[in-house]
Amino acid sequence: MYRTVNNGELRKDHVGTEVTMCGWVQKSRDLGGMTFVDLRDRYGITQLVFNMETNADLCEAARNLGREFVIQIKGKVIERSSINQDMKTGEIEVQVNEIIVLNKSKTPPFTIEDQTDGGDDLRMKYRYLDLRRDSVKKNIILRSEVAFHTRAYLKNQGFLEIETPVLIKSTPEGARDFVVPSRLNQGEFYALPQSPQTFKQLLMVSGYDKYYQIVKCFRDEDFRADRQPEFTQIDCEMAFVETEEILKTFEGLIKNILFEAKGIKIDEVPRMTYLDAIKDYGTDKPDLRFDMKIKNLESVCKGSGFNVFDSADTVLGIVVPGGANFTRKQIDSLTDWVKRPQIGATGMIYCKFNETGENKSSVDKFFDASALHSWKEISGANEGDMLLILAGKTSSTINAIGNLRLEVANRLNFRDPNVFKPVWVTDFPLFEFDEETETYHAMHHPFTSPKIEDLELLNSDPKSVRANAYDMALNGTEIGGGSIRIHDKELQKKVFNLLGFSDEDAHEKFGFLMEAFEYGAPPHGGIAFGLDRICAVIAGSDSIRDFIAFPKNNSGRDVMLDAPSKIDKDQLDELGLETK
Ligand code: AMO
Repeated sequence: MYRTVNNGELRKDHVGTEVTMCGWVQKSRDLGGMTFVDLRDRYGITQLVFNMETNADLCEAARNLGREFVIQIKGKVIERSSINQDMKTGEIEVQVNEIIVLNKSKTPPFTIEDQTDGGDDLRMKYRYLDLRRDSVKKNIILRSEVAFHTRAYLKNQGFLEIETPVLIKSTPEGARDFVVPSRLNQGEFYALPQSPQTFKQLLMVSGYDKYYQIVKCFRDEDFRADRQPEFTQIDCEMAFVETEEILKTFEGLIKNILFEAKGIKIDEVPRMTYLDAIKDYGTDKPDLRFDMKIKNLESVCKGSGFNVFDSADTVLGIVVPGGANFTRKQIDSLTDWVKRPQIGATGMIYCKFNETGENKSSVDKFFDASALHSWKEISGANEGDMLLILAGKTSSTINAIGNLRLEVANRLNFRDPNVFKPVWVTDFPLFEFDEETETYHAMHHPFTSPKIEDLELLNSDPKSVRANAYDMALNGTEIGGGSIRIHDKELQKKVFNLLGFSDEDAHEKFGFLMEAFEYGAPPHGGIAFGLDRICAVIAGSDSIRDFIAFPKNNSGRDVMLDAPSKIDKDQLDELGLETK
């Protein structure tokens, strides 16, 4: 037997027990008469002690142990003279009487500790070593917990876990496909699924009315901290349901995950329409951990001869609580922040409503005391607050002020990582209109059903048709999205046409689904959550990479495997492919 206990297990009660343990040498300290070794495994760290007086040979062997050597020891649990409160096993140590080196280790390229000296690239190259670090390990364990509680909840609700294929034909989630060449059908390619969307709809036609799958999806997209080219969805679909049942079922899932994995109880998940989310928060994934709603200031700002406001399509502001205390330097730094190309504002105007009752703005030349008073009134600011104003073209200003709201909240520590505020955003537009190409795109995907009450508008005003689509945002991150689907062949055909697919295109791409709809398709709908994102948000992190055991780097590379990589000429020939 390699071990009788693990390294996280021993407590004071075990004093006097004989144990056999295995693990990696975290570090050793030689104090002359005594040598201490920290032994680590998945479960924790146990201090081993070797005494020069009682066993000089063993002590010598312990001194020769390098970092990350894999060892097995036998020994007796004793009480520590100096207790370490920071360690779960801090009350005991193990006095070793036998040691076996199971494997040596080269000196690792970075220290395997929470505060490591290894840079990002080095840690990615040696990801298997990085995974030994506690801070990474706890993320991987959290992920396992989230997946487990997801399965338990959905099983309880009567869902079946069904696998769908990975070598398929393109799925319409709006990103580029990763493709796989076929050797047996030269010149033809499989696509990897961007999601199992079409399969889960087919499963509804097959009668499996509650489906789920924790599934890998592949999207060839540009890098962002909350995106990976291969990521995992909790993908779900239900038949004979309306939006309400779906929202209730899946807010139950998120509540359950938050409770089981984090001990957090959520009472209710508020709902807001897409239009309200954009109007109040400048985004369709609002962070509701703090207020600071966007205020429309057009009525009090425009028409006063100040060209920045007069020439703008819109003038929007946010009230920063306590912001009258901001220094010039803090304000300048925010102004520089909004002017960065990613945000794209041309400038920022502020007005401080001082505790003294005196109001002071950066545009005092153009606005008198009564104007500033009206700003205060309309924005709902209190004395001691500051109003920040952006003006310009409507959509870019909404976007900029939404981002400014988050940035101010970051700087004021309003985004508490231990507070969780999920929200449903509903009634998304069915289509996005691309002004340049004058074409419509599906805002969610082409199988999303319009709202019945908006069906008429499909002919007259497609832009204003609302979809039966919903997203869940948690703390400002979109963690899931879905919709009620079209299950009527004619309506599906019409939506395809509006999206610019001719009947032939639609048949070529999705003929199998359209045909399936002719064999008794039930009304159905569903949702998919991003498992990586749920874990990152729960752990209070912006980046999903740390929650994936072997992630890709910012350029989509696996630097450990060195993939993607070239393949042999023989392999290319076999596939009927040529290189440049
Ligand atoms: P959608 O495209 O909104 O919907 O994706 C669902 C959820 O998956 C996560 N996600 C990602 N996570 C990490 N990296 C990515 N590149 C990435 N892309 C998406 C997000 C998102 O909310 N088939 C539909 C769902 C449905 O209609 O049922 C779909 O895939 O958390």
